[in-house]
Amino acid sequence: MTVFWRLREPERFSPFMHVSNNAPASLVTADEALEILRRSGASNALVAHCEAVRDLALQLCEGVSVRVDRNLVEAGALLHDLGRVRTQGLQHVAEGVRLAGQLGLPEKIRHIIQRHVGAGLSSIEAQEAGLPPGHYLPETAEEKIVAYADNLVYGHRVISFEESIQRFSSRLGLESPVVRRMFDLHQEICAWCDGKF
Ligand SMILES: [Fe+2]
Repeated sequence: MTVFWRLREPERFSPFMHVSNNAPASLVTADEALEILRRSGASNALVAHCEAVRDLALQLCEGVSVRVDRNLVEAGALLHDLGRVRTQGLQHVAEGVRLAGQLGLPEKIRHIIQRHVGAGLSSIEAQEAGLPPGHYLPETAEEKIVAYADNLVYGHRVISFEESIQRFSSRLGLESPVVRRMFDLHQEICAWCDGKF
């Protein structure tokens, strides 16, 4: 079946075809993910942000003690903000999932997009934000690493965890469940890294 992102096989390329949702996420290379971003209309600033998140996420992959699909992390990190080519705010999550579905991207990548905001959203928070029904909390190591790396990249600059918390808590308050979840994710990732990061 022809897919948008199988650019390595140009004879099979068609922007109008879809691929089975069961396609392995590792089939999406970094070059293909970047091509998707650019063809979708991503600005240079958005591409730079996604590349910075990718770079940090891959650094984390080197340090964690848990088993991680590095290719999935790379593709997911590059595509996590795909929805920002259409809209900002929390709706970029829904838009990213929708665009990824249209492109026939694998479910594992759609989940990374859906679960990358902060340390994820509860179903009530997602509902209150007007997002479609779905699961917005990161579950897999790959989903958690991309969400965490995204929290530590502001624009294309890597910031400290404290600065990241400051940014979120100034809007939401330190007692916000969103912020508390970010602390939990930080602790979990630090435990995986065993002081190496
Ligand atoms: Fe991001």
